[in-house]
Amino acid sequence: MPYHSRILSKDEELGKRDDDFRPKRAPTYNGFNVLRWRKRRLFALIAGLVLVYLFVANPPADLRRVDGRRYGQPAAQRSFETVPTSYSRREPTGPPPRLVDDREEDDKDKQYYEGPIKFYRLASSLHAIGRTMGQRNNNRNVLFAASSLKSVANLMPMACEMTKWDRNYVHMAIMGRENMSLDQILEINGVSRDEFPVAFHDGRGDYSEYSTDLRLEVAVGGAMRHINEFMHPQAIIMDDSAIEDKPFTRALRARGKEYRRPVIEIPEGAYEEFMWITRLDSGSLGGWFKPQIDILVHAPKESSGSLIRLLKSLEDANYAGLRPPRLTVELPNNIDKFAGSYLSGLQWPPGGDKSPVGENTLTLRHRIPVDHASSEQSSLRFLESFFPTSPDSHVLLLSPQAELSPQYLQYLQYIILEYRYSSFGSPYSGELLGLSLDIPSTFVNGSGGFQPPVVAEMKAHRYTDDENFNQKSRTPFVYQAPSSTASLIFSEKWASFHDFVSNRLAASHSGKAQKVKKLVSETEPAWLEYMLELMRARNWHMLHPAKSFVTVHNELAQLPEEFIREEKAPKEDDSTQPPYHPEEEAFLTADEPPKIVPHREKESVSGTQALHETMPFRGDLPEIPHLPLLDYRGEHSSFPETNEIRQEYVTYFREHIGGCDAQQAKRKRIGHGLGTDDLFCLPDLEPEYDEEDEDEQVAMAIAEASNPTPPHAREA
Ligand SMILES: *[C@@H]1O[C@H](CO)[C@@H](O)[C@H](O)[C@H]1NC(C)=O
Ligand SMILES: *[C@@H]1O[C@H](CO)[C@@H](O)[C@H](O)[C@H]1NC(C)=O
Repeated sequence: MPYHSRILSKDEELGKRDDDFRPKRAPTYNGFNVLRWRKRRLFALIAGLVLVYLFVANPPADLRRVDGRRYGQPAAQRSFETVPTSYSRREPTGPPPRLVDDREEDDKDKQYYEGPIKFYRLASSLHAIGRTMGQRNNNRNVLFAASSLKSVANLMPMACEMTKWDRNYVHMAIMGRENMSLDQILEINGVSRDEFPVAFHDGRGDYSEYSTDLRLEVAVGGAMRHINEFMHPQAIIMDDSAIEDKPFTRALRARGKEYRRPVIEIPEGAYEEFMWITRLDSGSLGGWFKPQIDILVHAPKESSGSLIRLLKSLEDANYAGLRPPRLTVELPNNIDKFAGSYLSGLQWPPGGDKSPVGENTLTLRHRIPVDHASSEQSSLRFLESFFPTSPDSHVLLLSPQAELSPQYLQYLQYIILEYRYSSFGSPYSGELLGLSLDIPSTFVNGSGGFQPPVVAEMKAHRYTDDENFNQKSRTPFVYQAPSSTASLIFSEKWASFHDFVSNRLAASHSGKAQKVKKLVSETEPAWLEYMLELMRARNWHMLHPAKSFVTVHNELAQLPEEFIREEKAPKEDDSTQPPYHPEEEAFLTADEPPKIVPHREKESVSGTQALHETMPFRGDLPEIPHLPLLDYRGEHSSFPETNEIRQEYVTYFREHIGGCDAQQAKRKRIGHGLGTDDLFCLPDLEPEYDEEDEDEQVAMAIAEASNPTPPHAREA
């Protein structure tokens, strides 16, 4: 047992027994019938008991030292000898006893006390929590913890704001060296207990203002242990570790790790900027560090200018307090010198050079050129550049035309935590393919005239009937169309997409799949077409923000390599033409070659305002079914409607693309999690039909068998 937990077990105020502290009685005591023993043994036992008694009454120095630190510091050891054996219920006032040689050494230093720690003020507020609220491992408790008065003041507005949203039981624990009473602290912060239902806990031990750093650290760890026993906080929120007391930070982090609860640090000066976290519930906050984002930038030929612009915006974004994303840049064969030197000087994650190791998690990939990439090859190459390592590992795809808002990661974190980690779950969150940072300006086929939805088109009266909301302003919306500019794709959806494309390619190569007309504009990379098919077959949608978190630039825009058409060769001789593989083109392209049409470049969220203020509805996130929904043609629809269309589409897809015959296509199939086998009839695939459907088929077969029509008549 670590030394500090022993100290804490002595805490009588909380009704803890202190047997831990005493040497254990000899186990020989149990289960023996003394009378059956022979005299000699009885004598030995009595002698043993006397020894045990002496041991308890007067423990050797070794054990007493368990009170403080094991690694002997003479001063610390001696100070423990002066500890009174009977504790009074009243907290002592004034300075604790000092040792003579301490005084001689340094009279000014007040923080000299290393004696045992007792919590006189913690019990009452912890007992008030009540059994039902805090005993379960999953509950609604969120803990703000602070040591210095300054940090208390920094966190107070956030804790109060969180109570207004009424999603969590908000607790605030004060654990530092301050000698002010809790009521005084609340008073100087202008907080009255009636106004905000924050449960305050005074987790300071006795003589806290005289504690050495080590004693403070032990005290914070001890207070956290009691707090955890009573409330099991789902997340612990603290001030920036750069300004908090170091011993406090160390103890809190250690406890957070031990209890597997995130210790969320609010970066210095970003208290208003992080106000969005007050709208999250305890489940979401408990998953704070879970989402891992992998950024994937695919840079085409001669794109170094725009690539550098994108990387600069990535470097300048806000990462403080969040789990930094990883970055992978896929480079073309010939990168120019400028981009090369920029990349070699790039430190990723930004600010990572401050850590002692200065680890760089930037990954560069270098493409080997091919004469003419088919749409199949380029889709495969792209898909293979990422695969999720866990259900929490998502990929953010960025085009080099993009320039990100500094708040992009906060936005992603907020949305992911709300829709994927909320303790109550979020309806239709499984139908989200991912999150786009952008608002499209065209339909998927590249035609202009796309109109993003407004508040008046929301699907709940609490938004459309509220005069506080400008009905003509933009809202977030879900759209059944993929986008390649700045999209985060959720882990399991990307894995499913991998499976789909491998089946899809097998179907095209089997010759059974028809070539269908492309729906997605040829100015977009080829993989989007496959993605759209999967989205329609699964009723998946992208979530778009009300205000864009990315500016998509026009200049230096390029057609994807796979859709660049060669100039007609003047010569008859065809050998100069690049090889063309018709079996690797699964879709019919338009007669006219694609052209890039410039769009109006939109401003992205500047980051000067706090995130919750730039978002509609005071930063509160609507439930997904309340959001306007656009189907892939850009028409207003709803989840039930698109789901009906999906069923028709699945039948169509199986028959025309999946290699099934008309009969097979109609039958219900069993889906397997992320797999997409149910959409295909391929030689290596054994189709698994739904039981219900199986019964139907059997019934049909029986009906047919008992049909009185003789076989020769049927043939006729
Ligand atoms: C708290 O500490 C301050 C400064 O060290 C001291 O002046 C004040 O008397 C102390 N108050 C109490 C109640 O101990
Ligand atoms: C593109 O899609 C939109 C919306 O579905 C449609 O109105 C338009 O006619 C389409 N354009 C072409 C060229 O097919």
